[in-house]
Amino acid sequence: MTIDLDPTTTPATAALAPVRTAVKRTVLMCKPDYFTVVYRINPWMDPAIPTDTSLAVAQWQTLYDTYVGLGFDVHLIDPIDGLPDMVYAANGGFVIDNIAYGAAFTYPERQPEGPAYMDWFRANGFDVRVPVEINEGEGDFLLVGDVILAGTGFRSASNSHEEVSAIYGRPVITLNLVNPSFYHLDTAIAVLDDTNIAYLPSAFDEPSLAVLRERYPDAIIVTEEDAAILGLNSYSDGYNVVIAARAKDFEGQLRERGYNPIGVDLSELLLGGGGVKCCTLELRR
Ligand code: ARG
Repeated sequence: MTIDLDPTTTPATAALAPVRTAVKRTVLMCKPDYFTVVYRINPWMDPAIPTDTSLAVAQWQTLYDTYVGLGFDVHLIDPIDGLPDMVYAANGGFVIDNIAYGAAFTYPERQPEGPAYMDWFRANGFDVRVPVEINEGEGDFLLVGDVILAGTGFRSASNSHEEVSAIYGRPVITLNLVNPSFYHLDTAIAVLDDTNIAYLPSAFDEPSLAVLRERYPDAIIVTEEDAAILGLNSYSDGYNVVIAARAKDFEGQLRERGYNPIGVDLSELLLGGGGVKCCTLELRR
């Protein structure tokens, strides 16, 4: 038997997959010291199901360690007792060009988080814009290259899309979410790099779906099964994609396309309706 070392006959998937490039990320996270589920503002949450705060902290720590291992610059905001959803840092604002557009939450239970995150942005040198319109930060605003995809239907008001467009001077594309289980845009779309996304078609209305199909004809389409464990709620540096460990089909599709999927288990935080991306707010200076 001979061993074939001819690079022209390497397996088809490896030969065809594009080369991806990791870009170092700077992110903000919030340790879930006070995590619990005591109210219900999305279908994932059930106050009758017990939560284990120490397990939530341990799982969150794995995500934190993964980011540090990837060379990310990870900043931390202090958790506040009585704000159990503060761990979902993505909702704390939207940050591009050193400008932090603050969050104004839909439900009273989370409203105090808005000022808490804005205080952190100010203390850390960001130019804070206090929001006029209801919006839940990077939960509903996703930067893809130079375009901002903006979700509405359950949380962020469509007027906030205009506010964001005026602040950042970038094109903002409104997408309507229709399934209450995928209530934030980051539960229905994963941004992989400046030109590529993955999404769940059934989370959108027909006009929004038409926009996605036209703009991203090569997008990864995830299965309902993977979406149902918030598999899309992932975070990519352009090469490494941190995803829910159980999202196996998504993992395979990412690998085929030349990405490096890294699975983490955040099952405890799923009880609050959030995953990897929800725990991650990107800070773009
Ligand atoms: N319990 C939180 C809420 O319903 C979960 C937020 C998840 N965050 C996200 N970026 N999708 O508001």
